[in-house]
Amino acid sequence: MRVRVLFLGLALYSCAAVGGGAWADGSGDPAAVKEVNGQYYDKQGTPTFNIDKDGTVDWYTYSGYLRFNSMCIVCHGPDGAGSSYAPALVDSLKSMDYATFLSIVAQGRKNVSSSTDFVMPSFGDNKNVVCYLDNIFIYLRGRSDGAVGRGRPEKHAPKPPAAAKAENECMGGS
Ligand code: HEC
Repeated sequence: MRVRVLFLGLALYSCAAVGGGAWADGSGDPAAVKEVNGQYYDKQGTPTFNIDKDGTVDWYTYSGYLRFNSMCIVCHGPDGAGSSYAPALVDSLKSMDYATFLSIVAQGRKNVSSSTDFVMPSFGDNKNVVCYLDNIFIYLRGRSDGAVGRGRPEKHAPKPPAAAKAENECMGGS
């Protein structure tokens, strides 16, 4: 029930943020139409997952699974399924666009009501999250779409050199 209320608030917030226009995104068609150095994008240019016919997931989906499990699982539950403390991100991403996701994770959010005081921490200064935000989004998008199952993906593409380079630059800087 609480999650539904959050949803409504978020929908209103998103519409306001983009001037009442379309706020499609995480809920839009997740099909990958473009690949750049092993990373996939949908037709709107939003990062997305890719799963080969034999079930092999792209590197970013796999990396996102690992990062989610180290940084988010404690509150958001295994596989993004939610907990009594924090919402099921698998549901959130059905309607949340990429920009909203990024800003909530970077800035955090506090939903205070008379009976609850749940806090989403701000991860804007945490490189273990910031450097992998698109990975986590891609993984959760795949989960939300039902394309990525629960647990560890069995087979994944090798780490693209571009991912290693971006990671070094992001983690290495100041
Ligand atoms: C300490 C617990 C905690 C951790 C760790 C945490 N979250 Fe959250 N998160 C929350 C809570 C609680 C909320 C709901 C906040 C509210 O009600 O405003 C939330 C909300 C969110 C939302 C908005 C969901 C919605 O439906 O509105 C997103 C997106 C999110 N978290 C992503 C993440 C990601 C990604 C990570 C890991 C990098 C993460 N969170 C780690 C507690 C946590």
